[in-house]
Amino acid sequence: MMTAAAVPMVDLKAQYDRIRGELGPALERVLASTQFIRGEDCARLEEEFAAYCGVAHACGVANGTDALVLALRAYGVGPGDEVVTVANTFIATGEAILLNGARPVFVDVDPGTYTMDARQLERAITPRTKVLLPVHLYGHPADMEAILGIGQRHGLPVLEDAAQAHGASIGGRRAGSLGHAACFSFYPGKNLGAYGDAGMVTSNDAAFIERVRRMANHGGGADKYDNVVLGTNSRLDTLQAAVLRVKLRHLDAWDAERRERVQAYDAALAEAAGVTTPRERAGTRSAWHLYTVRLERRDSVKAHLAAQGIATAVHYPRPIHLQPAMASAGGRPGDLPISERLSNEVLSLPLYPELPLPTVERIAREVRAAL
Ligand SMILES: Cc1ncc(COP(=O)(O)O)c(C=O)c1O
Repeated sequence: MMTAAAVPMVDLKAQYDRIRGELGPALERVLASTQFIRGEDCARLEEEFAAYCGVAHACGVANGTDALVLALRAYGVGPGDEVVTVANTFIATGEAILLNGARPVFVDVDPGTYTMDARQLERAITPRTKVLLPVHLYGHPADMEAILGIGQRHGLPVLEDAAQAHGASIGGRRAGSLGHAACFSFYPGKNLGAYGDAGMVTSNDAAFIERVRRMANHGGGADKYDNVVLGTNSRLDTLQAAVLRVKLRHLDAWDAERRERVQAYDAALAEAAGVTTPRERAGTRSAWHLYTVRLERRDSVKAHLAAQGIATAVHYPRPIHLQPAMASAGGRPGDLPISERLSNEVLSLPLYPELPLPTVERIAREVRAAL
């Protein structure tokens, strides 16, 4: 019997095959320069990514988690402070707050977009609140207009966790330029992914980016051994910067290919009972990092797809306020009913620019069969 080919969640080899001709010379240039730390490609990537996002400044860092840790620290977040965020996210969002000695205050998400419910934000703000930290989950921007409005009323900066949202936009303005600052991850599987760990902080605030830059390089001033503030080593690697510069040129085309696959999924699943497909808010374009559906019988659909050789993933099986690592934040089951319900119902289907459209049809057919 012929079995259908296995389908992965992401296929980085297929992407590599498309760009290997461009990567070789870019990597060779770094190797020949021997500028492995803070090389020319780091500065160029910062300029190019800032321009891509539509902001004046960017600072490359070692990964997306450090981007969040350092950006919060650059806002002066520390012990006794609170940062309002969501629990329907990857653990790094919460870690960055706790690692600065501050307390994460979690609000629930909007059931339509799975991102921060701005209507709940106001109640969560206290005199200790220092920063608002919405997450553009699965590539879909949070309701920034409402969140920024609340931030403005309370004099609070809004930091975007844009780790999943390279190229997403609201009203034509890209993620990275929507709040006062933004944090990106270039983890390999992201829409813009390095060949290792890498991250970036973007902002129009030059002084803010300068604080991040200092802290990411041992608190240094002009001289290497002039360590003016307590910092760390969280520098962006030059080889990763060279890879990311090559890939940045393709990001818009890849995001468009993701969108095409999303439309194919939507069309194939529109009439199916028992599945809710993801939606974009009016005026908002998702970067479609993930195509995540809601299913009443999630685990049996997941098992059926696995038996057909189709990989899926759950983003995320436990909202982070219920993770043992976040226990000091005092989260309890029942605190965030929508986030908690989503964790039992969401399922991410394979999505990447090279995913063949007939394979999308096949996956959708198997989802319908499982239902
Ligand atoms: C929403 C979110 N925030 C933060 C991060 C942390 O990024 P990194 O893995 O590069 O540290 C990730 C990704 O992994 C993420 O998805």
